[in-house]
Amino acid sequence: MVKLVGIAGSIGEQSYNRMLLEFIRDHFKKSVDIEILNINDVPVFNEDEDHNDNPVVHELARKISGANGVILATPEHNHTVPAAMKNVIEWLSNNVHPLNGKAVWIVGASYHTQGSSRAQLHLKQILESPGVNAFVMPGNEFLLSNAKEAFDDDGNLKDSRTVGFLELVMKKFLTFMKVIEMMDAPDPKNAHEEDMDSKHPVNTTVEDVDMTDPEWVEKAAEKTHAASGGDYVKLDRGLLTVDQLNCFLNSMAGELTFADDNNQFIYYNKNADAAHMLAPRTPDQVGNPLSAVHPDRVIEHVKQVLYALRTGESDVVSMPAQTGPNQHVMHYYRAMRDENRRYRGVNELVIDIMPILKYYLAATGQKLVKDPDAVPMSPITGLDAVTGASAHSDPTTDATSGASASKSAEKPAAPEPVKDDALTGASEEPAADAAPKKPEETPTDTDATTGASES
Ligand SMILES: Cc1cc2nc3c(=O)[nH]c(=O)nc-3n(C[C@H](O)[C@H](O)[C@H](O)COP(=O)(O)O)c2cc1C
Repeated sequence: MVKLVGIAGSIGEQSYNRMLLEFIRDHFKKSVDIEILNINDVPVFNEDEDHNDNPVVHELARKISGANGVILATPEHNHTVPAAMKNVIEWLSNNVHPLNGKAVWIVGASYHTQGSSRAQLHLKQILESPGVNAFVMPGNEFLLSNAKEAFDDDGNLKDSRTVGFLELVMKKFLTFMKVIEMMDAPDPKNAHEEDMDSKHPVNTTVEDVDMTDPEWVEKAAEKTHAASGGDYVKLDRGLLTVDQLNCFLNSMAGELTFADDNNQFIYYNKNADAAHMLAPRTPDQVGNPLSAVHPDRVIEHVKQVLYALRTGESDVVSMPAQTGPNQHVMHYYRAMRDENRRYRGVNELVIDIMPILKYYLAATGQKLVKDPDAVPMSPITGLDAVTGASAHSDPTTDATSGASASKSAEKPAAPEPVKDDALTGASEEPAADAAPKKPEETPTDTDATTGASES
């Protein structure tokens, strides 16, 4: 769901601008998640102080950075924005700039007929200054005049035409946010800009914990007061405890790795020791920047893959690794994006597809035969683009698809089809004489993944 944060420029106990934000939050709750941020405890801005020293300002900056857009509801004081609103913006335009490139929608409520119009103009000017650099939605001014009479006892706007206009403007703001994010998209030619040292913290980055610390997980968890064990986690569609989530992820049919949009390796489903993994990872690697878990020789290649995913040039990059008569390991690098298509990192799945292939052949009564017309493809290095799994120090020839990381990045979207496997002599074409089994001959007690029967 699209995530917005709202700030009202009043710190008094009763505020019509806050009421307006609360109405917007409740009215659009089915389609937009709006969190109203409290600015009551923000101290008066002082350039000598670092925002990091103040937990209230730090948290405000973090929440704005993580949002897809911001709604600012401004009162009007002396024909300008109130000091409380300006004060917050000063904090957010000094050492930290969370509004930079952020889509902002300005609304306002005031007691009189002018309805905050001058304050809105003033706020727009402030937001477009270089230190703030927000993208303010043009036009579509939402001015709530005579605020004292505008709400009923339940805090709802009384006038249905006003609500209708609000709906129209919200729709435009959702589109405006998408346009801003497209404008902000990086140029695909600049793959070298991929920061493998993870020096560009994102809103989820745990700061002040050394990324290369072997106990990064423990220390970062302590710092964030992370949920654990029996704590419940509300997911997009479900509710699990952390223990259940671990059981679930550790029982996946493949090995999963999560590297975030700052190219920090932050998770793998540790269901086996490195020695028994297809793409070995070790617990102490978690937290590392990707540069620390890749040999230098593959860094440029990895950057290309990540950049293709980040920029939307590709949604999936697939690469074969170890291959042989009984094993064909694939690495699938899938871009993770939020509702607004913003890149959130890479999901790597490493899986041996041979058992699936064997099951499919058994279930459909086919066999693999060598394709005499197959053209051998050029070999590539068995590359682990995400965590580098440098444990695969032995470069594995890709005799199957021959796709290089960059080639896959240019034209990926789906895994390359199996054309020819030089080791097994297998082809994707069924043998001409292989009559598919009748459905009733297909074993019903079969485990679709491994082909193993229950017995
Ligand atoms: C010091 C002060 C100056 C004000 N100046 C204006 C003004 O210039 N224009 C206006 O329309 N309302 C003005 N008002 C009244 C505001 O409309 C009203 O305080 C505010 O917008 C209501 O928002 P709130 O309930 O969210 O605080 C002023 C109020 C105060 C306290």
